[in-house]
Amino acid sequence: MARKKIALIGAGNIGGTLAHLAALKGLGDIVLFDVVEGVPQGKALDLSQCGPVEGFDAKITGTNDYADIAGADVIIVTAGVARKPGMSRDDLLGINLKVMKAVGEGIAANAPNAFVICITNPLDAMVWALREFSGLPHHMVVGMAGVLDSARFSHFLADEFNVSVKDVTSFVLGGHGDTMVPVIQYSTVSGIPVPDLIKMGFSTQERIDAIVQRTRSGGGEIVGLLKTGSAFYAPATSGIAMAEAYLNDQKRVLPAAVHLTGQYGVDNLYVGVPVVIGAGGVEKVVEIALDDEAKGNLAVSVDAVKELLVACKAIDSSLN
Ligand code: APR
Repeated sequence: MARKKIALIGAGNIGGTLAHLAALKGLGDIVLFDVVEGVPQGKALDLSQCGPVEGFDAKITGTNDYADIAGADVIIVTAGVARKPGMSRDDLLGINLKVMKAVGEGIAANAPNAFVICITNPLDAMVWALREFSGLPHHMVVGMAGVLDSARFSHFLADEFNVSVKDVTSFVLGGHGDTMVPVIQYSTVSGIPVPDLIKMGFSTQERIDAIVQRTRSGGGEIVGLLKTGSAFYAPATSGIAMAEAYLNDQKRVLPAAVHLTGQYGVDNLYVGVPVVIGAGGVEKVVEIALDDEAKGNLAVSVDAVKELLVACKAIDSSLN
């Protein structure tokens, strides 16, 4: 069987890390695409030279030509600009919308059968726009946010409870912004829900509330520290987990920004919810029962995503 092909659109911080992880994990051959000449080629050469040390044979190439992504099985999109201190994800909208148009057209023309994972921010609007511009089926275009937001939540919870991250499962719904909805009733340590752990005296409601808040602004905390860009290690790891779920038909239940058609009371919008990802792309949307607080928070998050789409349509009339 021929090797799988992974195309990475955007060869910046996340793109380079994605390529490194994909090579180390032996996911397939890798094509790094960027509009800047030399950067994808340079990174591809540098990464290829890891092969003899790490013992991987992946063919890694850099390109500025969309024709080279032809036949890709998975495409991960990080093209665009990242946040600087003081910027919200939404501040990136105008610039990155234009980028999504070019990327969507490039994918449609060269790799229309790929499973596409969008990471570019503001995520919920960009994945929607990328789907519109590419015309690919909705179940083959997803946004990566929930895996990252849950990883941040799990990391903080593991620290709080002083337990292994392996035993923490956490749950984050909604848009990838300050309105995201970490759901504590479905967040557990080895199956014990966080509210029960509070009752058992392992933590307090106030401390968990602070962790929820820190998770919501988890990306901003890193932007504030880095000063020159945004997080890239954990976003890349999260994107790769989604790619693996598709390539290896793992049928993993992962939170992802997907196109909803009535689930959670949301129609024709990309919002973060738990889904099953396997060889069929998004194979199922998992609709869980939410308490009133989570429902209210989700509604606020959905409204924030809707506002972003209005802004996109005002910038690019072809999206109306
Ligand atoms: N087509 C392809 N690549 C592009 C385009 C385009 N039209 N426009 C910009 N790029 C490239 C840039 O040249 C750069 O190499 O996208 C890359 C972005 O890399 P970084 O600036 O390092 O940003 P990164 O940290 O990788 O984040 C990328 O993901 O999490 C989001 O908010 C983040 O939107 C940002 C994206």
